[in-house]
Amino acid sequence: MTASPSIPRTELHAAAERFGTPLYVYDAAELDAALARVRAAFGQARVFYAMKANPNLTLLTRLRVAGVGFECVSAGEIARAEHVGAGGESILVNGPAKSGEEYAAGGRLGATFVVDREEEAGLLPPDSRALVRVNPALNVSTHDHLATGAAGSKFGVTIEQAPGVLRALRDAGHTALGLHVHIGSAIRDAGDFGLAFARLAELRAHTGELEVLDVGGGWGLDADLPGIAREAHAAASVFGASLWVEPGRYLVARAGTLLTRVVGTKRTGRNFLLTDAGMTELLRPMLYGAVHPVTPLWDGAGGETWDVAGPACESGDLLARDVVLPVPSPGDLLAVGDAGAYGAAMSGTYLTRPRPAEALWEDGAWRLIRRRETAQEVWAAEV
Ligand SMILES: Cc1ncc(COP(=O)(O)O)c(C=O)c1O
Repeated sequence: MTASPSIPRTELHAAAERFGTPLYVYDAAELDAALARVRAAFGQARVFYAMKANPNLTLLTRLRVAGVGFECVSAGEIARAEHVGAGGESILVNGPAKSGEEYAAGGRLGATFVVDREEEAGLLPPDSRALVRVNPALNVSTHDHLATGAAGSKFGVTIEQAPGVLRALRDAGHTALGLHVHIGSAIRDAGDFGLAFARLAELRAHTGELEVLDVGGGWGLDADLPGIAREAHAAASVFGASLWVEPGRYLVARAGTLLTRVVGTKRTGRNFLLTDAGMTELLRPMLYGAVHPVTPLWDGAGGETWDVAGPACESGDLLARDVVLPVPSPGDLLAVGDAGAYGAAMSGTYLTRPRPAEALWEDGAWRLIRRRETAQEVWAAEV
């Protein structure tokens, strides 16, 4: 496993030196390649990037220029989409508990809403375009916290409710474009998608033809995209619908690497390799037990088994467990891979730790795309 497929090691060292660590770096070529893979698999489907995965304005701009729209779940995300020049046609407003702010911002821009409960027919701005999110009631192969299509989850309406919600939208004067499904994130078994799409297709008898079928995102990084796309197109054709997709992690995860310096080591029965990044920079290992590849950027023979632990006062503050790495020296650089999605986006300021800088590797040069915060900025809103 390599943490950063195409950025030369010397350049990773140079970036850490220039911008400091912890540091997120992104490879523009890998971002473009991921989008190309999505387009090759899904053909004419409209792509709405789920910006929750990584909302950095430079990455959003790159995707917008490439013709990608945005799936947004907060007024802040809608403002980001507007800031990078996206118009209403390219914005989807999603979320199980939208506030007045989201309805107002989406309505002002003419965005499409993804309705998550029947009452929303009465809450949308007048003459809205809307999809109905359906919960297919499936147990899917991912961490419980990442599963969004299981029976009893808070997302969407039930299969039985969906035709009635489409009718309620039309009765309220909105344009009910079609159906939406998103079964979760980091899904390991691609077969889960086929099952979910097939459940929606069964609704055809009750809904008639529809304009749009939106099958969300959630694809694993090694997923068989052509296979998922075939199932999605098959379901869309049942409705005579155009296909929309909402990838987040798939588009940006591989492009991103978290660079962290070794602070030291400690042996307490387990071997700890202590780093200057941890849960405040990359929460996924702690939150979901996510496994990220780690690559040592120092020379050394042999290896020992380490837990890579961050600086927070939390026992769960681990970036990796049981990884074999050569013995490091303080200051050595470790690369944590597949970190472009839900990495910087979920970074926090717990312990008044300023959020890290982000840099883009593009055409053989580094560009700072977010500077490191200062401690003063962390407390700036306090009175
Ligand atoms: C509605 C919706 N669409 C798309 C996504 C993107 O998922 P992923 O990043 O796993 O592709 C999410 C993630 O939570 C989501 O909730």
